[in-house]
Amino acid sequence: MTPINIPEWQSLIRHYSDLKYLSMREQFALDSDRAHDFSVSSGDLLLDYSKNRVTKETMEKLVSLAESVDMNSWIERMFNGDKINNTENRAVLHIALRNRSNTPIMVDGEDVMPAINTVLAKMRSFCDQVHSGAWLGFSGKKMTDIVNVGIGGSDLGPAMICDALEPYGVDGVNVHFVSNVDGTDLSTTLEKLNPETTLFVVASKTFTTQETLTNAESARAWFLQSGSQQDVAKHFVAVSTNAEAVSDFGIDTDNMFEIWDWVGGRYSLWSAIGLPIALYVGMDNFERMLDGGHEMDNHFRSQPLAENMPVLMGLLGIWYINFFGTQTHAIVPYDHSLARFPNHMQQLDMESNGKVTNREGQRISYKTGPVIWGTPGTNGQHAYFQLIHQGTQLIPVDFVLPVNSHYPDRDHQSILLANGLAQSEALMRGKNAEEVRAELVKEGFSGKQLEALLPHKVFPGNRPSNTLLFPQLTPEMLGQLVALYEHKVFVQGVIWNINSFDQWGVELGKQLAKAILPDVQSDGEIAVHDSSTTRLIELIRQLRFK
Ligand code: F6P
Repeated sequence: MTPINIPEWQSLIRHYSDLKYLSMREQFALDSDRAHDFSVSSGDLLLDYSKNRVTKETMEKLVSLAESVDMNSWIERMFNGDKINNTENRAVLHIALRNRSNTPIMVDGEDVMPAINTVLAKMRSFCDQVHSGAWLGFSGKKMTDIVNVGIGGSDLGPAMICDALEPYGVDGVNVHFVSNVDGTDLSTTLEKLNPETTLFVVASKTFTTQETLTNAESARAWFLQSGSQQDVAKHFVAVSTNAEAVSDFGIDTDNMFEIWDWVGGRYSLWSAIGLPIALYVGMDNFERMLDGGHEMDNHFRSQPLAENMPVLMGLLGIWYINFFGTQTHAIVPYDHSLARFPNHMQQLDMESNGKVTNREGQRISYKTGPVIWGTPGTNGQHAYFQLIHQGTQLIPVDFVLPVNSHYPDRDHQSILLANGLAQSEALMRGKNAEEVRAELVKEGFSGKQLEALLPHKVFPGNRPSNTLLFPQLTPEMLGQLVALYEHKVFVQGVIWNINSFDQWGVELGKQLAKAILPDVQSDGEIAVHDSSTTRLIELIRQLRFK
């Protein structure tokens, strides 16, 4: 199926050419209910999408596009455990991990819920032991520092959540994340830690990932400078699908927390890959996050497409990417504790929808996933917002705004919120030449000086954004937000007719790194590479400290 050939897509092409100069400013002036009409809620989470270059007709046409690709039946297929990850012949069941209603979800004739509940219970018991001091290190001390050793989905999601839920942290427990194979990452983490009170969580779905195994082996070597081989069991636990490799590494499989092949890496923070989260904020708060994810799942599954938050966000993305030709999308949280939210979203979206082959294996001729990027407001305003306001590219932005801080704020929160709102208003309104002229005259400019400055001070405006507004960043709200973006990515994948749940594009680099490693490690004959790679290897050999 090629979406660009279906009548609804063709109709959107025509609609785009009628509407490409639609002025949002004018639309707001014409319709006082616009903010209300172009908003949708799920629980306490509001999506205001009124500052987009759309009319009601646009939204109807986009929803028709979603209908034409059977969006509802795709949603049902995912929730029912169908093997929609066709290239790996796997179900896609991160939704089961947070299925708080506990209704059966069948894969290959077996309900997955009992196994999920067993692992959740094991996580709870382990967290209780660590927190109460029933689980002690080799010298009889309580664990104070959790070090998660993982990468990609086995790092980014849990690291982001731990930052975001810092106000919920259990007293006396610190959490650290080591991912990069660059020895700096592990060394700078370990130099602050005491092996007697450090617990390592080696998190790897496959337990074959080079970076994670290298870091885990070095962490064990560091530990063995103080503890004995027997003590490893008290200081190393694992999260994986691969019991054999865990055991080969030397971790007792009793200390392994199971995950399953139907959990994608970038969708795995809801599983035992979330163990560092549960250790850091407690199992109750971890489960509150699952509750939030489940609430968004219920919304996604039950709401009509036209009022469905992930569907609407997905469709707006399609509108810009495939019709306006945008290439990037910024996610800007106005909450410092969400600093790593854009990074997690980057893996979630780009590893899912960075595809050039459709479900049937044919090369596709339309744009798919955008570049996702962003940093917390207000820092971004003093860095890259210049380009979003006045640059030559159209960059849709998501503003993520919690109303209340967890910290005593005096005026900080009001200033923060005012800035977030100001940016979205400025992007939409812009400032035209007449407005600039009036301002300059007021400031005392005239004549040539005024004319010279004027064009630089014009803001084109009409730049789109969504605003996600909610009372406070609680575990439930964070769960809702992450699930919202997961489903948005899925919606876009369905429309583009791609499998959002494999990631073959990461394999070639892994293979080549293995092949190049001996050339970098030794002085022997260099294997056959392109001339650039060979020359770089030669230079590395010359420059390397002996
Ligand atoms: O980057 C590829 C990838 O497979 C991700 O999808 C995954 O999250 C990451 O590597 C880590 O994989 P694992 O958990 O198997 O170590």
